[in-house]
Amino acid sequence: MEKLIIHGGAGSLEGKTAEAQKMHESLCKIWEESFEVLQKSSAEEAVLHAVRMLEDDPYYNAGTGSKLQADGQVRMSAALMDGYNNRFSGVINVQNIQHPIEAAALLSAEKHTVLSADQATGYCRKNGFPEYNPITDFRMQEYENKCIGTNGTVGAVALDKSGQIFAGTSTGGIGCEMPGRVSDSPTVAGTYASRKAGVSCTGIGEAITQQAAAAKVVIRVGDGMSLQDAVARTMLESDDYNYSYGLISLDSKGHIEVGTTKALTDVYYAYHDGQKFSTFFS
Ligand code: GLY
Repeated sequence: MEKLIIHGGAGSLEGKTAEAQKMHESLCKIWEESFEVLQKSSAEEAVLHAVRMLEDDPYYNAGTGSKLQADGQVRMSAALMDGYNNRFSGVINVQNIQHPIEAAALLSAEKHTVLSADQATGYCRKNGFPEYNPITDFRMQEYENKCIGTNGTVGAVALDKSGQIFAGTSTGGIGCEMPGRVSDSPTVAGTYASRKAGVSCTGIGEAITQQAAAAKVVIRVGDGMSLQDAVARTMLESDDYNYSYGLISLDSKGHIEVGTTKALTDVYYAYHDGQKFSTFFS
């Protein structure tokens, strides 16, 4: 019973029907391709495939098309969590590579599984990641216009036929942040999985980190709460602080849940319920 859910960030597309339609189509296409990978291969390969595709689409704020930090530099972060082996790996503020999620995946085989900044970039170079400029004209203009823009972080969570769950998240941050800011994505607050559940978050990183959101949902499921209740309880707790974020999740039984706090309009998610696509747009 393979399951896959992906997201392309969070925000509000109110009144922008054409943009919402475009994102819906893009997410459905990425989901379809990645689900084929899941059926033929594993949850790990499916998550990597989905996140790579999302990183390659300049529309999303991850990989190519990442937002610029306040000093005009792009610094990207990504994490991968292997729920079966309880293995979290990630890169924080890595620069000039095409696929931060690949760097996170490579680090999962190392003794030290999370690297940051110049050392993360150096690790990528040492391992053959070519120099790559992820800055797009659109993001440059957005930066020059004081960073107005809504598209965020990307992520995927998959359950494969052997019962393994993987979660992956990749981000260019929130745009115009203090150089070196660490987002939630490369931490267990933004990306977490176990043998019971997996979560990838999107939204304001500080809120997600302060709530330990992804880890909290997964641990609650591990303690016996249903996924639906675990997500609802976590969102409710965050509403006490008016936090703005959302998450995608699934559990080992194949249930899928999307959570949003009250302060957030939408998580741009997509999954297939066996009958039809369910997305933020339909
Ligand atoms: N959730 C992405 C960020 O805050 O950077």
